[in-house]
Amino acid sequence: MIEQIKHKQIGKFEDTKFEKIHNEIFEDSNRASILVAYEIADLIKQKQQEGKPCVLGLATGSSPIKVYEELVNLHKKGELSFHNVITFNLDEYYPMEPENRQSYYYFMHQHLFDHVDINPENINIPSGTVSQNELDQYCIDYDLKIKQLGGLDFQLLGIGRTGHIGFNEPGSHKNSGTRIITLDHVTRRDAANDFNGIEHVPKKAITMGVSTIMKSKRIVMLAWGHKKASIVKETIEGQITSNVPATFLQNHSNTTMVLDSEAASELTRIKTPWIVSQSIWTDRLKVRAVTWLSEELQKPVLKLTDKDYNEHGMAGLLAIEGSAYNLNIKIFNKLQHTITGWPGGKPNADDTKRPERSTPAKKRVIIFSPHPDDDVISMGGTFSRLIDQGHEVHVAYQTSGSIAVTDEEALKFAEVAQSLNGIGKDNNFHKIISFLNSKTTAYEDNLETRKIKGMIRRMESYGATRYLGLDDSKVHFLDLPFYETGKIKKNPIGEDDIQILIDLITLIKPHQIYAAGDLADPHGTHKLCLDAIFEAVDQIKDQSFMDDCWLWLYRGAWHEWDIADIEMAVPLSPDEMNKKINAILFHQSQKDRVMFQGEDAREFWVRAQERNRNTAILYDNLGLAEYEAIEAFKRHHF
Ligand code: F6R
Repeated sequence: MIEQIKHKQIGKFEDTKFEKIHNEIFEDSNRASILVAYEIADLIKQKQQEGKPCVLGLATGSSPIKVYEELVNLHKKGELSFHNVITFNLDEYYPMEPENRQSYYYFMHQHLFDHVDINPENINIPSGTVSQNELDQYCIDYDLKIKQLGGLDFQLLGIGRTGHIGFNEPGSHKNSGTRIITLDHVTRRDAANDFNGIEHVPKKAITMGVSTIMKSKRIVMLAWGHKKASIVKETIEGQITSNVPATFLQNHSNTTMVLDSEAASELTRIKTPWIVSQSIWTDRLKVRAVTWLSEELQKPVLKLTDKDYNEHGMAGLLAIEGSAYNLNIKIFNKLQHTITGWPGGKPNADDTKRPERSTPAKKRVIIFSPHPDDDVISMGGTFSRLIDQGHEVHVAYQTSGSIAVTDEEALKFAEVAQSLNGIGKDNNFHKIISFLNSKTTAYEDNLETRKIKGMIRRMESYGATRYLGLDDSKVHFLDLPFYETGKIKKNPIGEDDIQILIDLITLIKPHQIYAAGDLADPHGTHKLCLDAIFEAVDQIKDQSFMDDCWLWLYRGAWHEWDIADIEMAVPLSPDEMNKKINAILFHQSQKDRVMFQGEDAREFWVRAQERNRNTAILYDNLGLAEYEAIEAFKRHHF
């Protein structure tokens, strides 16, 4: 596979009516990152052959991690030396000590420099310790040093949700050089998880300027995940403006944006390809086109006319389908058939047009939940129905979720437990209490503290599953080892993680597996948990019970499936919605000020309710029945 990627060239510009920056789209960020690493490696080797240094501009953040991992792999395999490499990092927080774990100095050493043969003197990272009065000269010298080396041969970039490149926030001038800047609030919020709260994120940073970046001979920008989709569209299709500094790249003649499918999903040629060029009309594209038109014109599917289709670039589709009438009915029926109140299949019913099989009438089901609460947040209504309809339902919490419990919450429980226990100072609670009272470094919990945090989430989960009527014996806490680092950064998925999943699946021999299908969140726990399930299932796919096992993916708390991807839509009545919310509320430690809120300030139960209601509104607007709420699933074929 690697060989194939190695020989695929980036650089070919498939222009479209709307796009102003060359871009390449990949199904997943891993493959894309490997390709980028190969381009960098080839450049380093070419410069070695020419007897020249290779000057690289490097980025930090979540986007380039896999690129660095692959460069380290190449080095470890003896295929790549960094002896001629000189690096300049884009930015550093200010003020910031290099030893600080949140510093970009620390990041770069952890992910790249400590593992390759680069000469330490060739590493340049803006220093967060330069005194205020030396800063201006320091920044001028940083640019000068790059210039004296003949400029950057290659610049790797990520993109912030504000459209920043480096830390050139909105308002940055195209002629700006390296300088000190004030971070945008959105950027600080995005960094809040790393700093244990926005109040600890520095307000300033030193960044390479736009003009410094633009002078690079080659620029590759990475963007992964749906969170980046709208800024990627603005960058590639929008007007050049200092409000979105990444749009300046439209004027750079050798830039490629490397995207995964989610980050590319808002581009016109992806979202509405029929507007851009002749489309190959797959079944999925037909559903997308018709539902898009219905939403665009605010008309139910069955009321769309030939004229509506022709005026929106879909004459070709009409030609294939004969008429709007035929097409409308076809798509309407397809959508209609996704709806079922029987997520485990309806016994004794004709199932040819239903999402699930009618037999066996009683199914064995495993609901995998990455954290102890995704089960109820994402599919609490379906969970409850599966139990009520008599299936043997198991829930398996993949990780302990301990990191998301605040110190204050842990302290409260430890103090309650100690006061009941009354044994004095020689018990674990005392250890936890004194540890928490003297804790200084965010996230470096000791074992006992991690345990109590995990235990809090366990007991909350039991509260929710008991409320839904599930017996404790059907609740499995897997505590996958990859998560148990005591830090935000997780280990990669290992064989022991996979084995735990295999053991559970082969023990239960399920007819249905439900899993969190957050496919594109590159380094998040959900993606790792899903990858682990895919790997486990792959290893046992030849066992006979697997022929009868279907995998359904639900979406996490953040966003919903595209309507064209939904294969099972389970409606919830108002009472069922309330029951689901009550189940979510058992997860008290995740209420109010949660630790990993992300950019969405709403509480989880509000998000769940709004998302499920919005899906119902979507179905209603398309002309289907009007429900209170809908939970949606997509089937994954092994
Ligand atoms: C990092 C940098 C930033 C990031 C951007 C995206 O050195 O300069 O521009 O590239 O904030 O961050 P991630 O990749 O974490 O989404």
